[in-house]
Amino acid sequence: MTDTSSHATSMRTHLCGELRSEHIGQTVSVCGWVGRRREHGEHLAFVDLRDHSGIIQCVVDNDVDVRSEYVLRVTGVVRQRPEGTINDGLPTGQVEIGDCAVEILRQATPPPFPIDARADDVDENVRLQHRYLDLRRERMQRNLRIRSKINAAVRDSMHAQGFVEVETPMLVPSTPEGAREFLVPSRKEPGSFYALPQSPQLFKQLLMVAGVDRYYQMARCLRDEDLRADRQYEFMQLDMEMSFVTQDDVLDAVSEAVLAAAEAATGERPAPIERMSWHDAMNRFGVDKPDLRFGMELVELTDVFASTEFKAFASARTIKGIRVDGGADEFGRNQLDKLTDRAKSLGAKGLVWLKCTDDGFDSPVAKFLSDDEVAAVKAEMGAETGDLVLVVADEWETTCEVLGVLRNDIGRPPVHEGPYRYVWIVEFPLFVGHDKETGAPKSGHHPFTMPHPDDVDKFETDPMAVRSIAYDLVLNGWELGSGSIRIHEPALQRKVFRALGITEEAAERKFGFFLNPFEYGAPPHGGFAFGLDRLVAVLAGEENIREVIAFPKTQSGADPMTNSPIAGDPAAMAELGLKILPPST
Ligand code: AMO
Ligand code: AMP
Repeated sequence: MTDTSSHATSMRTHLCGELRSEHIGQTVSVCGWVGRRREHGEHLAFVDLRDHSGIIQCVVDNDVDVRSEYVLRVTGVVRQRPEGTINDGLPTGQVEIGDCAVEILRQATPPPFPIDARADDVDENVRLQHRYLDLRRERMQRNLRIRSKINAAVRDSMHAQGFVEVETPMLVPSTPEGAREFLVPSRKEPGSFYALPQSPQLFKQLLMVAGVDRYYQMARCLRDEDLRADRQYEFMQLDMEMSFVTQDDVLDAVSEAVLAAAEAATGERPAPIERMSWHDAMNRFGVDKPDLRFGMELVELTDVFASTEFKAFASARTIKGIRVDGGADEFGRNQLDKLTDRAKSLGAKGLVWLKCTDDGFDSPVAKFLSDDEVAAVKAEMGAETGDLVLVVADEWETTCEVLGVLRNDIGRPPVHEGPYRYVWIVEFPLFVGHDKETGAPKSGHHPFTMPHPDDVDKFETDPMAVRSIAYDLVLNGWELGSGSIRIHEPALQRKVFRALGITEEAAERKFGFFLNPFEYGAPPHGGFAFGLDRLVAVLAGEENIREVIAFPKTQSGADPMTNSPIAGDPAAMAELGLKILPPST
């Protein structure tokens, strides 16, 4: 008797990749695309038939005219492959389908690139121009399916935790996430525009005012920013918000969803996620998204050089170093010059390199260092002969940031290398940097983020030292997501606006529709959003989120398959009251 798989349809009994020794003797039908075809003697040919589940070898009459990517339905009997033709590298490699009746469902033009091989060396524009063929490949099928599993696991987890899925609009006013917006012209009100949402931030907070209590959404977000490996114009967030919560409640709920997603993708549930303060992350790793898969931590050397004769270190606020294990031989003069240039381009005044020898350091600055300093640096850094030590002296933030980048440049493993190291970064500063024009501090997260209650008295005296109840989730050096406890008291919100240099009129104009409802009873609330594309990319071992998005844009923002963006149709533009000005020179 023929068993049928759960993928059986009226045209097939099994998927190509499902057939095993246990099916020997059964008559089966499979459907798919022709991969390789090899002559076998005078009368027979081997045809590899492929669907998303894998490939199966079919033995067909030589005169059956099938070519690469033809769509077939093959019916035959599963049998043991003859001695010598078994392929242990293939899950179906023990068996083949013999006595095949072949039905050609569709002929095919030869594809512009091979589908069976990894087309990684094919130009990305060509891949994207024929994305439907690119997606036919095993790697992309796998990525799409990992993504689908992660989506399902996240949804299940949110529902299990009592979250309600609510859809928010795509035509919205500005959202203050700090990126440039995509504008949509209004036909009814020429000259007026909607924005596409950078996130559902304002709406989800209003849902808390509305008493929804726990909201989530798989939200499409749009930001007109420069594209990179971890950024697209359009991306997906698992967006959520909760009422009557503290930070712990939000972190627990998000952790649960992320760990469930990770388990669905990898088969293994990660350990509970550790926490680290923003200050510790900067101090130890020089970045707010530390990759904890490798060591090379930043080591404090300020005290070692407290009374140094070496001018470059004498007046510096913070001196730190990183140790490159066995790096002395690895880094020649040329590379060290490059590292120094890199450090300078990041804002350092210079970079001291010290190659550790039995007697001291081999370095152009060795002559400026006392014996005690050499001994102390070696001890603090745990440096042994053959190691390379890199030292930066500057303000705390610059020292940390420069060494943080060098640490990643030198030590960071490729994305597909394990293990998975999740970490919550908490206690971000409320304000980060200053507005170039007004000189006012800028929001670290967004202007509705709750300041740390212990720091509220520093608002006037030392605003840059005010911490916030904002947190990021980081995985292997990728920022997966951000969130915060929100301000729900108008008086505190006004205080934050004042510190940000936003006048009351401006606040009313920009955020009135959002803040006035808070007067009707806003519950304490907080939330989070993580980038699904990034989570899927890391869990799928991909360096670029384009590899886990079905139809992404290129680095320059184009879609070679649909040829978009395209020039506006004059009639449609006229209806919208739009006219294109010549580009300004
Ligand atoms: P934030 O702006 O930090 O926070 O975004 C949250 C997460 O969304 C992902 N992300 C992106 N992914 C791909 N391409 C992009 N261009 C892109 N931009 C952001 C990242 C990021 O960590 N409303 C707040 C969240 C909150 O406070 O609840 C927000 O959107 O993974
Ligand atoms: P200088 O005294 O500027 O000639 O610098 C001597 C060496 O110290 C050079 O190798 C510089 O790259 C390095 N150097 C100078 N300033 C710093 C600094 N602030 N931190 C680390 N290295 C520095």
